Amino acid sequence: MPALTGQVVIVTGASSGIGEATARRLVRGGAKVVISARRAEQLQALAQALDPAGASVLAVAGDVTSDADRRHLVTATLGKFGRIDALVNNAGYGTRGPVEIVPVDAIRKNFETNVFSLIALTQLVLPHLRERGTGCIVNIGSVAGKIARPLSSIYDSTKHALEALTDGLRGELKPFGVRVTLIRPGFILTEFIDAASKASDQYTDNAGPYTPYLEGFRVGYKKLRLVAGVPDDIARLVEKALTSDNPAPRYNGPLHAKFFLCLKWLLPDRVLGFIVRLRQ
Ligand SMILES: NC(=O)c1ccc[n+]([C@@H]2O[C@H](COP(=O)([O-])OP(=O)(O)OC[C@H]3O[C@@H](n4cnc5c(N)ncnc54)[C@H](OP(=O)(O)O)[C@@H]3O)[C@@H](O)[C@H]2O)c1
Repeated sequence: MPALTGQVVIVTGASSGIGEATARRLVRGGAKVVISARRAEQLQALAQALDPAGASVLAVAGDVTSDADRRHLVTATLGKFGRIDALVNNAGYGTRGPVEIVPVDAIRKNFETNVFSLIALTQLVLPHLRERGTGCIVNIGSVAGKIARPLSSIYDSTKHALEALTDGLRGELKPFGVRVTLIRPGFILTEFIDAASKASDQYTDNAGPYTPYLEGFRVGYKKLRLVAGVPDDIARLVEKALTSDNPAPRYNGPLHAKFFLCLKWLLPDRVLGFIVRLRQ
């Protein structure tokens, strides 16, 4: 079983939420962690809190959608720690709103962050793992990558893409000893909703005939808060994946995520669709 101690792990989207909790947990477990996100101040504060001496944490500010920033992240990691053992592809956000109304450019932007940038960063990291015949890629998907919801189909389809990508990549990299897994969080209390509002309010505030349904969507999110998990629920799964010789293809959590995925497996699409609409 690969020990966490000494593993060099890049965590994207580490300035808040799941990425931050993951960085905290991995550092506690003895890993050397490279944290990345756009908000440099948050990253620096986290690095300082986790490791004031700067021996085991490196903060590299950058935008995952920038080719130059991605390259800098990889070179800075190699420069500081000499190798990479794992990449946790966590950076992401959600655009919501009716497909009819959200401009294609905004949809493209969401795919750029959640899917294409994840692929591009993985491409940069993979040669370093493959040549050493070891390593792990952890993609943060979502329950929404299996169960798409009305008015959230843009974000949900980015996470659906990660399902296929992760499965294909797992097979591709098996001969090279590189492990690949997908983690599917349910609803977790983070800055995700605020970021989604920032990205989507201009569309949801002017949604014309869809407006009453959007109100239902907001109420649905409020109800979900009752069962919401905390970021460390997911960080724990990341740690589990990184310390397994043979990680599960997918990890689901917390409990409500397992429940919804179980319904997806058990129920016909029509019935599940009805339940999803009821939730709103
Ligand atoms: N919270 C949930 O209920 C939930 C459920 C399922 C899946 N997820 C997934 O979990 C992951 C983490 O989300 P979270 O819930 O922890 O939300 P969060 O608190 O909003 O964290 C998102 C992180 O991604 C970073 N990020 C966003 N765009 C970026 C970009 N262009 N370049 C670099 N970093 C970027 C943000 O940092 P900066 O703004 O500083 O760049 C932030 O650190 C996401 O992939 C999300 O889709 C969340």
